[in-house]
Amino acid sequence: MPTAKQWVYAAAIAIYFLNAWGAYVTLGNFGEGCGVGFGASWPLCNGTLFPALGNYPTLIEYLHRFFSVVTGLVILYATVKTWRSKPRLQLPSRLMLLAIILVPIQVGIGGEVVGSGLSALVATTHFCFATAIFGIVTVAAALMYTEDKRSLAARV
Ligand code: HEM
Repeated sequence: MPTAKQWVYAAAIAIYFLNAWGAYVTLGNFGEGCGVGFGASWPLCNGTLFPALGNYPTLIEYLHRFFSVVTGLVILYATVKTWRSKPRLQLPSRLMLLAIILVPIQVGIGGEVVGSGLSALVATTHFCFATAIFGIVTVAAALMYTEDKRSLAARV
């Protein structure tokens, strides 16, 4: 069974790849792969929850949304594990709580990116939240790593 620390590592890696995928959405101009504006394109994709994925931009945009859900669940589970671990590491568990609070906000901003027709300001906000979530989880992972080393050193 993976430990809390391993779940936090997994969360950091998942956000890293989700952010890279998001950059591909932006740079490849796939941001309207599910359509434009609210309703048919958000929270749905081309008017449905399970669109045909034959069109490349739709596939890329849809996978970005799908991976964001998977990543959110990994962050959620990592957060629960850090809070349940004994002894609980104060700062990492608080950082993970902050990250999981930011995730639904980030998903909302993602929807707003689409709804606003890829407004530069909203897309930049989406990028800022992505960077913040990655940074917060990475710091939590680094703290858990060093804490492990410290308790090992204390034992010898
Ligand atoms: C935890 C969740 C998410 C993270 C961490 C995330 C991260 C990112 C990142 C890093 C980018 C690239 C930004 C840039 O290159 O400037 C991006 C782009 C984008 N994201 Fe997300 N995203 C998330 C969820 C979503 C959701 C749920 C949607 C729903 C519609 C979405 C829609 C988009 C769109 C449309 C773009 C391209 C914007 C453009 O073309 O200007 N994202 N995302």
